[in-house]
Amino acid sequence: MKIILTGSTGFVGSRILYSLRSEGHDVICISSEILKGIITTERYFALSELIKGSKPEVIIHTAAISNTTYAQNHPEESYQANVELPIIMAKIAKENGSKLISCSSDQVYSGFVGLKGIAEDEELQPTNVYGKHKLYAEKQLTEVYPDAVSLRLTWMYDMPVYRTKTNENFVLSLYKSALLDRQMQFSLQDFRGLTYVRSVAENIVKTFALPGGVYNYGSENDQNMYLTACGFLEEMGLGEKIPELVKPIDSAKPRNLSMDCSKAKSFGINFEPTAEGIKKLISDYPGLF
Ligand SMILES: NC(=O)c1ccc[n+]([C@@H]2O[C@H](COP(=O)([O-])OP(=O)(O)OC[C@H]3O[C@@H](n4cnc5c(N)ncnc54)[C@H](OP(=O)(O)O)[C@@H]3O)[C@@H](O)[C@H]2O)c1
Repeated sequence: MKIILTGSTGFVGSRILYSLRSEGHDVICISSEILKGIITTERYFALSELIKGSKPEVIIHTAAISNTTYAQNHPEESYQANVELPIIMAKIAKENGSKLISCSSDQVYSGFVGLKGIAEDEELQPTNVYGKHKLYAEKQLTEVYPDAVSLRLTWMYDMPVYRTKTNENFVLSLYKSALLDRQMQFSLQDFRGLTYVRSVAENIVKTFALPGGVYNYGSENDQNMYLTACGFLEEMGLGEKIPELVKPIDSAKPRNLSMDCSKAKSFGINFEPTAEGIKKLISDYPGLF
């Protein structure tokens, strides 16, 4: 299949690229330099021509400003990258009759404690600039190109891998702390799905058949962050050191971002729960843990 990929230098994009090429797909990457900043009319037409010339069946759009703190402090840049750019990709996808798969986030949810597994149309009150921009982009994509698919991703994890970018993540931070015998604190009232990024990449081909719309796309997790951390340490064989390495704390602001992924499941897209994903990661790195 002919596929255009943006954000291929990123945490998710680099793994999607590897996964798709391993499966024999013809993947063309669009350099982020072409996508960063204000997209003038000239730049729009250059990008449109570039994509038109490739005749992609699918465009996977992962390029974004993914750092929530950066987005909070640079709202205009975030708006360009996280709202204007996906809209441009949707217009170009529509012009070319290509399927568009675009990345959104669980940050679109309010996080107010309530429903344990939040469905796509519930609790949509983002509390930060990044979440607001992601939610607005989803709505715009549906208007501009109803066939576009927005995937709400959870926080993801992996270990550093040669030739791929690895963002700071839950598993890596805990692994580094355990190596240094440093204690980390985790909340008893913080609930969210954490997803092994390789599972995100492996499932991506199945998203090409999804009807247009918004989908929760990741691992479900009914454990709080403290218990999730304990589970990981157990799997690492460090169960006895749990009291030294992780401390449970009460949050001033309880949070629940855990998603109900039934909609994606109904289309055959299945993720292992977070605890199983962590086991999968450990088995993917023999000798490391
Ligand atoms: N990582 C997570 O846990 C997570 C969680 C939920 C949702 N998401 C979403 O998943 C998608 C992929 O995230 P990721 O973790 O792979 O992000 P990432 O590692 O930060 O990579 C971002 C990609 O976008 C490019 N980029 C950076 N700034 C840009 C800008 N202003 N305009 C256009 N492109 C820009 C980067 O290019 P350079 O390498 O050249 O800078 C890179 O290729 C994003 O939509 C993100 O919001 C990620």
